[in-house]
Amino acid sequence: MSNNTVLCDKKIILGVSGSIAAYKAVEVLRLLVQAGARVHVVMSANAVKFITPLTFEALSGNPVYHEVFDSNSSSLMEHIRVIESADLLLIAPATAGIIGKMANGIADDSLSNLCVSYNGVTIVAPAMNDNMYANLAVKENIKKMKRRGVKFVDPEQGELACGSIGQGRLADPSNLLESIKKEFNSMNDFYGLRLLVTAGPTHEPLDPVRFITNPSSGKMGYALASAARDRGATVTLISGPTSIPVPEGVRFVSCRTACEMNDHVLQMFSDCDILIMCAAVGDFAPKQIKKEKIKKKGKSSLDIQLLPTEDILKNVAAKKDRQLLVGFAAESENLTQSALEKLRDKKLDFIVANDISSPGIGFQSESNQVTLINKDENTKKLPLLPKVEIAHLLLDDFIKGMPRSEES
Ligand code: C5P
Repeated sequence: MSNNTVLCDKKIILGVSGSIAAYKAVEVLRLLVQAGARVHVVMSANAVKFITPLTFEALSGNPVYHEVFDSNSSSLMEHIRVIESADLLLIAPATAGIIGKMANGIADDSLSNLCVSYNGVTIVAPAMNDNMYANLAVKENIKKMKRRGVKFVDPEQGELACGSIGQGRLADPSNLLESIKKEFNSMNDFYGLRLLVTAGPTHEPLDPVRFITNPSSGKMGYALASAARDRGATVTLISGPTSIPVPEGVRFVSCRTACEMNDHVLQMFSDCDILIMCAAVGDFAPKQIKKEKIKKKGKSSLDIQLLPTEDILKNVAAKKDRQLLVGFAAESENLTQSALEKLRDKKLDFIVANDISSPGIGFQSESNQVTLINKDENTKKLPLLPKVEIAHLLLDDFIKGMPRSEES
């Protein structure tokens, strides 16, 4: 996507807090509107003391929210509803006050209410006195927010409104605009790529009612599919049986057995750029599927002969040309060693290893803690994080591992 069109039709919420730099938010708004964004301004109770809502209203063409309970407004709490379908929240200027409220979930005016209600992409541009910016509590609040994924555009050095010289001036509006464009571009870093993701367990039937399976919930694969879709990829998700809703905007193919999954993957492989085999594919399946339910009566034991299933990754590795191949290894012992063996054996570009013996990670869990190994056998241990955040961190590495196209 071109840098000039990346903001076209994006819905951006501009939050203005009570700093002398509030007047610079007017320029930020002007640049955003000029770049084609739809901007809605929300002001803190203090911001309206520096600049009138009317200025922002005239430039954005949208109502400006600055009161929590506006008795004249027919739509109570409209300032919270404005975040619906927003693409980005920009707080510029952000005082130590709004940063403290955002870091700690305090909602006591229209802007802080909105910040607590919004869970999407957020960029904060601080502006304050240099001593305030250097204060440990402010630094800790910023650190806390960064850990949650909030982005910051650092204030600049220079003369401050209070007369002192130091770091605290709101970033230049044009630099702010560039940071926003960069954020949208990185959100679209998978644009034009076709991803094939497998997820969930497989069911290998023994008879009409019984089957062999494993406890995979499918959550990691679904998180990867949704994250890649959010970053602009065209995603096909091939899933074994799970109880998770199908992610919107993703082509969904449902299957049951390893054999069915193998057929779907082989059929779609040549049209994909990245294959992520996140599914916990059954390694063995009953040699015979009984037509009728196996009866217990008269049996003191039951022998079932199992045969190995098709190794899907090995099958596609033989057909690989430009595609990036990613495997997963759920291990209960010798995590790195076993994952490395699979990386070599299956000729993968990456393997994601997770230790299923630790409680709270892996199968069924909402969070995961994985080690990523690339084809040069460099390992990277990622922190324990919600699966969707793990998905984004993995995608960050996968995109770097893609063969570079010729410079355009
Ligand atoms: O089961 P295993 O630990 O070998 O799985 C490692 C990787 O191989 C996973 O990415 C899994 O999806 C894939 N796999 C496969 N075909 C199988 C079994 C596993 O592609 N039959």
